[in-house]
Amino acid sequence: MSRTAYVLGGHITPFIGKRHPDFIWKNHPDFGTRTNPTLEASIQAAVLGALEATGVPASAVQKGWIGNFVGELFSSQGHLGAAVAGCHADLKHKPMMRVEGACASGGLAFASAVESIRAGTDVALVVGAEIQTTASARTGGDYLARASHYARQRGLDDFTFPAMFARRIKAMTEAGHVDADDLARASVKAYANANRNPLAHMQAVTMDFDTARTASDRNPAFLGNEDLKPWLKVSDCSQVSDGAAAAIVVSEEGLRALGRTPADAVEVLACEVAAGDLFTDDDMLSMPTTRAAADRAWAASGLTPSDIQVAEVHDCFTIAEILMYEALGFAEPGHGRDLLRDGATDLSGRIPVNTGGGLVGFGHPVGATGVKQILEVVRQMEGACGDYQLATRPEVGLCANMGGDDKTAVVSILRHG
Ligand code: CAA
Repeated sequence: MSRTAYVLGGHITPFIGKRHPDFIWKNHPDFGTRTNPTLEASIQAAVLGALEATGVPASAVQKGWIGNFVGELFSSQGHLGAAVAGCHADLKHKPMMRVEGACASGGLAFASAVESIRAGTDVALVVGAEIQTTASARTGGDYLARASHYARQRGLDDFTFPAMFARRIKAMTEAGHVDADDLARASVKAYANANRNPLAHMQAVTMDFDTARTASDRNPAFLGNEDLKPWLKVSDCSQVSDGAAAAIVVSEEGLRALGRTPADAVEVLACEVAAGDLFTDDDMLSMPTTRAAADRAWAASGLTPSDIQVAEVHDCFTIAEILMYEALGFAEPGHGRDLLRDGATDLSGRIPVNTGGGLVGFGHPVGATGVKQILEVVRQMEGACGDYQLATRPEVGLCANMGGDDKTAVVSILRHG
């Protein structure tokens, strides 16, 4: 019989970057006297924060995983399993491993821990971390392009990923599946939720519908590729953020040994990974890799999309949120936009999505995102979300984390109590 995995809790550092009040850059009053947290400091803050928040002693942790995409490029630092072991004397010499799946690295770290719990581990540590503000957005665009098929796709634009999703906006618009107002609705929702979230990168930036729906100096269409430029604006994009998150995942025996019960934790009903073909692309109108992971998650959990009461989905760009609604079965193909038009995914809607702001509003330190998503669902279930807490605490939630343009997907389903 398969063993059950539980999430006991964890810690998310503030996600920061340009336009966040605490982010140091050349016009900040603290410039020259204070610096932004490094990769090392962020990993440590997340790990020690998770141990403290859950009351789990470091000595009880048996194994750990860290998701990180390109620490070598942004921070000249790889070998991050050993960085986790370096966070506390009692973690030293424990098995600690880094996993990488582009922007799904955090989700893969979580999936690795869940598999390990099912195979016999009792207490696991999961970390996700990325620092991206050490380079300009343009240079960072080149680093992040390593998540595409670089040889074939890097030339699309200096900002490769924004261009890849501009392509999807163009195709989805031409097929009549979305219009500019739908994308604006997704962006306005993300910023409005982030404005209620003290951990969010865009907590102090507002986005109104008129600004989001048209290109302007405040909301530029910034791509160099003339064919794709009209289709994507800054308001459609996730942020270049720094941040980390860490969670403690345990078995039932682990809970008992820590003096807890399943009622103190959130059960992992499913955690499924799918990988697409890096070298050839599917059509622009769907996300079959995410759908494959989701289908397996529905089968493993015995649930259906209508059972989900809260969700975190990978809105690296506004169009991705809409495509995810369809891949996850929240809407029929071509009708993801209806959930935004009806307000179904707002905080007061029937299936709130990305309650803390998602990747557009909360921010997207890429390796951290998948772990942050899990903790956000857990925090909603525990009533810990402050100004963006849902009126009724959800009992069943879903996370969908994506690497590349639908090339790695991790879909998890969680249930409280
Ligand atoms: N008018 C015209 N152009 C303007 C402009 C204006 N008013 N303001 C800015 N621009 C253009 C300029 O060309 C500028 O480039 P330079 O700095 O080289 O001149 C460019 O826009 C960027 O400007 P900024 O650096 O001032 O903008 P920013 O720092 O606010 O960044 C952003 C905005 C480019 C959209 C940036 O937030 C971004 O790149 N976001 C996307 C991040 C991303 O792609 N993450 C990965 C997601 S994909 C995923 O999740 C899957 C995976 O595996 C990777």
